[in-house]
Amino acid sequence: LGSLQVRLFLTYLVIILVTLGLTAVGLFFVLGGYRDTISYGNLEDVATLINRQAGVELEQAAESGEGPLDPDRLLLLLNRGVNPQGDQVSETSVMVVDREGNVIAGRFPEAIVEDLPDPSASASSDPHHCRIRVPEGTDLLCVSMPLSEEALPAFQDQDAAAIVVARPASDLDEVLGDLIPRLMFAGLIGVAAALAMGFLLSQSVSAPLRRIVRAARGVARGNYAQRVPITGPREVREVAANFNRMTEEVQRSQQTLRDFLMNISHEIKTPLTSIRGFSQAVTDGTVDDTEGVVRSARIINDESTRVLRLVEELLDLSRLESGQTHMRQEDVSLAELFAHVEEVFALRSEESEVTLAVESPPALTIRGDYDRLEQVLNNLLDNAFRHTSSGGTVSVRARGVQQNLVQVTVSDTGKGIPPEDLPHLFERFYRAANGRNTKGYGLGLAITREIVRAHGGDIWATSEPARGTSFSFTIPASIASPRGSREARPHNTVARANS
Ligand SMILES: Nc1ncnc2c1ncn2[C@@H]1O[C@H](COP(=O)(O)OP(=O)(O)OP(=O)(O)O)[C@@H](O)[C@H]1O
Ligand SMILES: [Mg+2]
Repeated sequence: LGSLQVRLFLTYLVIILVTLGLTAVGLFFVLGGYRDTISYGNLEDVATLINRQAGVELEQAAESGEGPLDPDRLLLLLNRGVNPQGDQVSETSVMVVDREGNVIAGRFPEAIVEDLPDPSASASSDPHHCRIRVPEGTDLLCVSMPLSEEALPAFQDQDAAAIVVARPASDLDEVLGDLIPRLMFAGLIGVAAALAMGFLLSQSVSAPLRRIVRAARGVARGNYAQRVPITGPREVREVAANFNRMTEEVQRSQQTLRDFLMNISHEIKTPLTSIRGFSQAVTDGTVDDTEGVVRSARIINDESTRVLRLVEELLDLSRLESGQTHMRQEDVSLAELFAHVEEVFALRSEESEVTLAVESPPALTIRGDYDRLEQVLNNLLDNAFRHTSSGGTVSVRARGVQQNLVQVTVSDTGKGIPPEDLPHLFERFYRAANGRNTKGYGLGLAITREIVRAHGGDIWATSEPARGTSFSFTIPASIASPRGSREARPHNTVARANS
């Protein structure tokens, strides 16, 4: 009973049964309203016939010379006309009543006829509807007709006034008796149709859901390649589509995790191998001269620094990605920030013979974390210098793009990035073909993007192979203009990350 299919099925069944029941009740009331009308209609016809018949019988009696007909005999004749089988319990009976409605002759001698028309007022011989109260019996419906001229003599002594034709008000049982089998038949057809339709409909809902359940179990067991066909009603299709999307996402993130672990192991293995090599050489005496030992120690130091840097960058990235890093919200003067990075990269520019052109920005102020924004510029400039050969130029500039947005661009005249690499630059450990042999880990841009996003900005790259690359990012502008100069603060954290 807990299953959706069974519930739907039962719901259809209940609906059809309730509908049938209501229909039956409705019919019952509608027919109930008509029932007296029908009975009266019949009685009127019978009464007209009887009245005429009475005249005929009396005439025949007079002609045959029997003398005036006995009232009881007349009624017997008339009753026989109504009930040819002479059935005593038959429905319809003929009676003769006086002006007050007392029965003179016929069945139910104690009965009183109500609603008799005033004979003086209604001279017409039209049938008139009336009711008969039968003491200790069911009331009857009746139709009265003034006695015809011919019939009057037979009842002269008894003050007879009218002939009444009566029958019991037709029973509801009678109406329903006919209706119930038909309703039952219709009900059976309805129920059969409802069962068939209910089965199909509930199947169309529950079958796709069952497939999803099966697939979800597969995913729980670690089989992420599960996909379900998108069928059924809209909501179920949506569930299926979202299920597929979810498993795709899970599969992708599983893959990313695997790649990630592989990358890390790979990146750590190389420096660790050389650390072990050189330390072994020193300990087992292969290297015994002071110069060799010092050189080995320096290499061990370099390599362990490298591993440490990787671990620090990874930790930083994972903190940024999980949103654990708090970004200060302070007004940062771009002029100040640019002046600072220009100072930091001055030496490198000199050594590599690459011109560093910092376009001193108009009095733009942005809102964010000074150290983190400097880290962004450091990463971008580090990349630019790394990929630009001597004689080239690296430039930094900024402009307000919208009312409350500033766009900063770092461009170089280096070798550029192949178009197929562009969409992946910001992925962890991604190094374009031109960067595979460099010392980087491919984490700089991933970290940069996380920082920019944490500030509510966006970052993108454009590149023309052999002509150069531009990285641009947006950052919210400060609403208030800066008040005075910022205090100098230590920036060694960021400097270390990019050393
Ligand atoms: N200005 C640029 N010109 C050409 N290629 C670039 C430029 N900036 C980035 N790239 C390419 O994008 C790749 C990813 O850059 P990213 O800064 O993420 O990693 P990295 O510099 O290799 O290592 P890390 O920054 O972790 O030391 C680089 O390996 C390089 O191939
Ligand atoms: Mg880099």
